[in-house]
Amino acid sequence: MEFDRQRFEAAWQQRQQSGLSFLPEQLHVFETLPSTNRTLWDLIEQGAEPGTTVIALQQQAGRGQWGRQWQSPLGGLYLSWAIAPQLPVSQGAQLTLCSAWGIATQLRTLGIPVLIKWPNDLVLQGRKLGGILTESRLYQGQISKAVIGVGINWSNPVPETGINLQSYLMQEPDPPLQSLEDLIVIVLQGLITGYNSWQQGGMEAFLPAYLELLANLGDAVVVDNRAGVVVGVSPDGDLQVRLSPLDPDLDADENPISSTASAEISLKPGTISLGYR
Ligand code: BTN
Repeated sequence: MEFDRQRFEAAWQQRQQSGLSFLPEQLHVFETLPSTNRTLWDLIEQGAEPGTTVIALQQQAGRGQWGRQWQSPLGGLYLSWAIAPQLPVSQGAQLTLCSAWGIATQLRTLGIPVLIKWPNDLVLQGRKLGGILTESRLYQGQISKAVIGVGINWSNPVPETGINLQSYLMQEPDPPLQSLEDLIVIVLQGLITGYNSWQQGGMEAFLPAYLELLANLGDAVVVDNRAGVVVGVSPDGDLQVRLSPLDPDLDADENPISSTASAEISLKPGTISLGYR
């Protein structure tokens, strides 16, 4: 398996959109790495500019969300992109959300009906197509630098809850993506458009569109033993859940939240795990 740089550059030129500044020289491609995020941080420490991108054909120690491993055999897309956002730490989740939205939106322009599972999963036909891991460095309380890491199943084997895009597209008479290089172009364009939109208008600029792609709206969840339903995502990127009224027949110890009215709560990424349907 090889990366065809000429093919990538031709696909980039072909799909070039105005306002998307990315130079193919900013793309560093490796056969095998422990983690593209880790290598990109090394390059940033050596002075690499925002926009620098690292790709590996496989990873030996791919990092997933919440400290998990990201299995990264040949055939998958493993990409990390450097940005310098300047935003308060408390709003860091927005970077993952605008990235997921940008990539999902670009794939949808090709007719691929990708949805988002809050906060960072890309979902196709109810299965996990990919995920995003954002890592940040702080300076004076602000996120000064961040690496957006994207893993997408292209032709690699996937677990039962996963799906790979190449197999999905094989059912199409005229697949809109032919190669990993084509997918890389779409992912980069998604990252850049998502980030540009966030920079220009903040979370409000893309939140309504993000919510339209949210696969979890209406999902039943349980929080502290109390039933609830997902009703949205807040401007800070938190999950909004409406809890059902408590059963007045239960004792106080069986009713951990002391309210009999329905209540809306916000949950930070990592405090609840949403399943696949
Ligand atoms: C998730 O857990 O859903 C996020 C997975 C993110 C994996 C990508 S692959 C490229 C980049 N490098 C890493 O080590 N992780 C991210």
